[in-house]
Amino acid sequence: MRGMLSPSVMCADLLNLADEIKKLDELNVEYLHIDFMDNKFVPNITFDTNMVKSFKKPMKNIKRDIHLMAFEPMQYFDRMEIGEGDMVSVHFEACENVNSVLADIKARGAKPCLAISPDTPVESVFDYLDEVYAVLLMTVYPGFAGQPMAPKSMERLEKLKKIITDSGKNVLIEVDGHVSWDHCSEMREKGADIFVAGSSSVYGNDYPLDKAVEKFYNLVK
Ligand code: DX5
Ligand code: ZN
Repeated sequence: MRGMLSPSVMCADLLNLADEIKKLDELNVEYLHIDFMDNKFVPNITFDTNMVKSFKKPMKNIKRDIHLMAFEPMQYFDRMEIGEGDMVSVHFEACENVNSVLADIKARGAKPCLAISPDTPVESVFDYLDEVYAVLLMTVYPGFAGQPMAPKSMERLEKLKKIITDSGKNVLIEVDGHVSWDHCSEMREKGADIFVAGSSSVYGNDYPLDKAVEKFYNLVK
């Protein structure tokens, strides 16, 4: 299976979002990465629940990849209309009861994913491998686009891949944060399956979007 692309919409042209999403839809990328921030778990705000819901409208081919950087994320699921086809990542560090949040996502027909921040040991996901579709490994500290890669991200990726492989579970790895032109091939080699592409690649303004997407797929095949 080729590496899958999830361009980060918070890095797109925010004044032309419908066009941006339409372009990605026509390029048939797998996901649209939608960062939701509560200004508590992370000191930032991006899109509100209404915007997250509305992103579904222009999308015919691509699916929502919703990354909730928010405490007790379950409270937002109804307003976002989480459902079939969505991939939903919640933070291990932000849920009182991780199992019940993952189960709620699954009950809505969506794919539950567990996100871990750079200071959270990768072993923390071990107990949840039966409940998740993917682990979202944050390779920057959550909250802002355009940051440098967090220290030891590549070793963490390798370690996470080994934990999943040794467990025999069929769980994917999504990498999120400074997934740059220089790093994405190495991330693929080390076990990443889904790539959140933001300001250091697809939205880095060095290529037109279609050429950037083509380049990315060639680097992660
Ligand atoms: C950061 C978000 C990322 C961000 C990636 O908290 O989770 O998805 O948009 O942006 P870059 O690729 O610029 O790090
Ligand atoms: Zn994200």
